[in-house]
Amino acid sequence: MSLILGIESSCDETAAAVVRDGYQVLSSCVASQIAKHAVHGGVVPELAAREHLVALNPVVEGALREAGVTMKEIDAIAVTQGPGLIPALLVGLSFAKGLAMGNGKPLIGVNHFIAHIYGAFLDEAHGVLENPATYPLLALVVSGGHTSLMLIERDGKARQLGCTIDDAAGEALDKGAKLLGLGYPGGPIMQKTAEGGDPHKYEFPRPLTGGAGKPLAPENLYNFSFSGIKTALLYHVKHHAGADGKLPAELLQDTVASYQEAVVDVLTRKTLLAAKNFGAKTIVVAGGVACNSVLRERFEALTPKHVQLRLAARKYCTDNAAMVGGLGWHYHRKQAYSPLNIDSFARLPQ
Ligand code: KG4
Ligand code: ZN
Repeated sequence: MSLILGIESSCDETAAAVVRDGYQVLSSCVASQIAKHAVHGGVVPELAAREHLVALNPVVEGALREAGVTMKEIDAIAVTQGPGLIPALLVGLSFAKGLAMGNGKPLIGVNHFIAHIYGAFLDEAHGVLENPATYPLLALVVSGGHTSLMLIERDGKARQLGCTIDDAAGEALDKGAKLLGLGYPGGPIMQKTAEGGDPHKYEFPRPLTGGAGKPLAPENLYNFSFSGIKTALLYHVKHHAGADGKLPAELLQDTVASYQEAVVDVLTRKTLLAAKNFGAKTIVVAGGVACNSVLRERFEALTPKHVQLRLAARKYCTDNAAMVGGLGWHYHRKQAYSPLNIDSFARLPQ
C-alpha cells in the first residue's frame, strides 16, 4: 500500500490530496481563488502566486488531516510541474521541494495535462488502465488553458492529434461571458444562462470543420479554433444592440444557448471523427469544460456502443490534486522520481 500526497498550483486553485495506490482518493482539498480574480475578469498570474503562498500550507495540512494520515506515512510527494502559469507553478513546486527535503520523501514532477486525463480514472476504475481492451484511448482535454486531442496506445505511447490554434474552448466561454457582462468564470455561468434557450436560434461559426466551398486542410482535421466564435458574438451583439449598446435581455438566453452549442458541436464532432478514424476503444473527456452538462449529454448520445465513454467525474474535471497524486503513484511504483532541481514549464513539451 502506498500513499501519495498530490499538490497542484498551476492556475487559480490551490489543491492538495492524499491518494492510495493510484486510485483511492482519501482526501481532495481545493482552495479556489475565483472570487479574488473575478473582479479582474480573469486570472492574474502574480495574484495567483501570492494566493498560493498563503493557501498551500493550510490546504496540505487539511488534506493530511482529512485523510487521517501524518506526513510520516506519506511515501512520495507528487506536484504539478507544468503546463500552467509560471509564477503560480513555482510556488507549488518550491513548496513541494521543501516538504520533500524536510521530510526525506521522494519528489515526483507531474504533467498537469496528463493528470487531467488520469482524473477520469480515479475512485472506481482500478485495473482499467492496465487492461489492453481500453486502447487505443482517445482523450479530449478541454479547459480554460487547453483544447487538445491526445491518442494513447497500449504501450503508453501518446501523441497529440490536434489542439487549438488560438483560444481554448473554456477561454471562448470565459471571454464570451465577459463580453456579455455575465461574470467570471464564464463556463458555468453560460451553461446556466443557456438553460431553456434555443441552441439553433442563431448560427455561430464552427471553425476548422470544413463545409461548403471551404475545404479543410488535412493538418487541421483535428485542430480547433475558437477565437472566431468570440468575434462573431461581438458582431452579433453590435447587430442587435439597443440604444444602450447592449444586447436586449430577451435575446440573451438564445444567444448564449447558440454560442454554447457551437462550442459543444465542434468539440464532439472532431472527437468522434478522430475516434472513428483511429479505432479508439475508449474516449476520455476531461478538464474544466467537461463539467458542462450539454457537452456530457452530447457525448453520451453520440458515442458508438462499442466505444467506452469515460467522462471525468465533475469534481475531478476542474483543477484538483487527486489527479496529480493518482498519476504520481504510477511513477512511484517504478521509483521514477524527480531530482530536486526540476523546473516548472509553461507549455506542453513538443
Ligand atoms: O481545468 P480548469 O479548472 O482549469 C484549467 O486548467 O484551465 O478549467 C477551467 C475552465 C474555465 O474556462 C471554465 O469556464 C470552464 O473550465 N468550466 C466550464 C464549466 N465549468 C467550468 N465550462 C463549461 N461549462 C461548465 N459547467
Ligand atoms: Zn487544468
